[in-house]
Amino acid sequence: MERLDEQVAIVTGASRGIGRAVAKELAEHGAAVVVNYYQSQEAADSMVEELTGKGCRAIAVRANVGDPDDVKALVETTINEFERIDILVNNAGVNRDRSLRRMTAEEWQEVINTDLNSAFYCTSAVISHMIERNYGRIINMSSIIGQMGNVGQSNYAAAKAGLIAFTKSAAQELARYNITVNAMCPGFIETDMVVALADEVKEALISRIPLGRFGQPEEVATFIRYLVTEGDWITGQQFNPNGGMYM
Ligand SMILES: NC(=O)c1ccc[n+]([C@@H]2O[C@H](COP(=O)([O-])OP(=O)(O)OC[C@H]3O[C@@H](n4cnc5c(N)ncnc54)[C@H](OP(=O)(O)O)[C@@H]3O)[C@@H](O)[C@H]2O)c1
Repeated sequence: MERLDEQVAIVTGASRGIGRAVAKELAEHGAAVVVNYYQSQEAADSMVEELTGKGCRAIAVRANVGDPDDVKALVETTINEFERIDILVNNAGVNRDRSLRRMTAEEWQEVINTDLNSAFYCTSAVISHMIERNYGRIINMSSIIGQMGNVGQSNYAAAKAGLIAFTKSAAQELARYNITVNAMCPGFIETDMVVALADEVKEALISRIPLGRFGQPEEVATFIRYLVTEGDWITGQQFNPNGGMYM
């Protein structure tokens, strides 16, 4: 029997990239997984097909995590289908990089809403279910950029730093209900978000990573699985799979 058998996880932004790897990792270790997506329905459906084909339990649910009504519907669908929620991975995120001089209010707000407000919407929508059962594991996907800042990413850095502070406050509030809240702060991971960068930018980034390469989504996913299976006494922390780029 796997440690996550009978547990239910919502992974936001699980159609692609890191979220997809997390959904796969948790499902393969026994959890029923809600694969949330927004635009990439085909990718989300293929993930669910792959998982159910292996005997895992998974459904795809469309929701814009930046819309509180969509998030409520996502949580209701989860409860209707699987009857409980043990794990929430607030992973969905976007970047809209631009120098401060050129950044529009829309670009600022879109990133703050999708990357930061979403964690509040999702967390507040699940915690009554977790409190009822005196158990919950919440992971917020921050970033190395939330720790060190970056040129052209003031919106993203602010959202990701906000997630770290949100994690610490939520961890303090929710510990009494045996709900842990932790933040992942990955460095540069080889997903669409990073593959889209110009070659010279990628080379410059790799030259700043002591371990000499980008990370893989699975390297974040296995750590998250460790946290939700073995991390019963770990809360309010930041974890930094970043190849040594920021110490
Ligand atoms: N890649 C990195 O180097 C890196 C490093 C540190 C932190 N992170 C963080 O890790 C998370 C995942 O990044 P990634 O690299 O895997 O990105 P990605 O490959 O671009 O995937 C982003 C995921 O977020 C979903 N998403 C975007 N907007 C959404 C919305 N409004 N509602 C619901 N889902 C939404 C996308 O779903 P659809 O395609 O279905 O819309 C997709 O599944 C993000 O929070 C990112 O900031 C990434």
